[in-house]
Amino acid sequence: MRMLVLRPVVKTRTSETRLPPQIDLARLPRHIAIIMDGNGRWAKKRRLPRIAGHRAGIRAVRQVVEASARLGVGCLTLYAFSVENWKRPHTEVNLLMSLLREYLKREIPELNKHNIRFGAIGRISSLPPSVQKDLRTTIEKTRKNSGLRLTLALNYGGRAELIDAVRDLVTRLEKSGALDVDAITEDELNRHLYTHDLPDPDLLIRTSGEMRLSNFLLWQVAYSEIWVTDTLWPDFKEQDLLQAVADFQRRERRYGGLV
Ligand code: FPP
Repeated sequence: MRMLVLRPVVKTRTSETRLPPQIDLARLPRHIAIIMDGNGRWAKKRRLPRIAGHRAGIRAVRQVVEASARLGVGCLTLYAFSVENWKRPHTEVNLLMSLLREYLKREIPELNKHNIRFGAIGRISSLPPSVQKDLRTTIEKTRKNSGLRLTLALNYGGRAELIDAVRDLVTRLEKSGALDVDAITEDELNRHLYTHDLPDPDLLIRTSGEMRLSNFLLWQVAYSEIWVTDTLWPDFKEQDLLQAVADFQRRERRYGGLV
């Protein structure tokens, strides 16, 4: 039997954190996707404005990104702004966009320090031009990194992604003069998704207790393991991530077949 390699201790900038011994570094999820929920409730509990919850949410983003990179996870995709989020009050939307820009500007050195390659998925061309510019800069400045692939889902909707993929695919088939329905296969559709160069998530995490997908990566999570915690996103720490990974490793994945 192959010995499992365990890394007993992970060094953080401020302290040493014990890994739960049950984490097997040879069987990490290749791709973790997270629905970060509960910023508003976190702020409400403290009688703070909602934006304070989003600010605290960014601190959690930073921790989880760094922890994922250190652990050796291949891809991390965070649901940062959905196509439905435009329905929120203008002030909250504007503040979320400013926080995103602040995050992107400040984070480039940290991303490079941890060898993290940044990307974004969603209807990016409908975001404010200033945000698009900062996204392009961050993508460009981290493009040579070979470690964790961090992807932010922005102006993202799973149904919108499927519509965009089908439109792209049909346009391509039309142009080639071969609009053959048999050419529409799972692999072909996959090639037209925003996530065409990412593996499907092995693990989907949702914070703050809701049992919903909220239009996130609908196609890609077909066989993902789902892990839901009552912890509100701003309180989500490295230990919660490790717990989710440890629980994931205890699941038996069957992909609809028999083991
Ligand atoms: C849900 O909280 C969270 C979001 C709207 C998106 C997550 C945004 C952040 C973590 C901040 C910006 C992120 C980056 C990467 C710059 P909610 O407001 O829906 O919480 P509630 O359900 O408790 O009201």
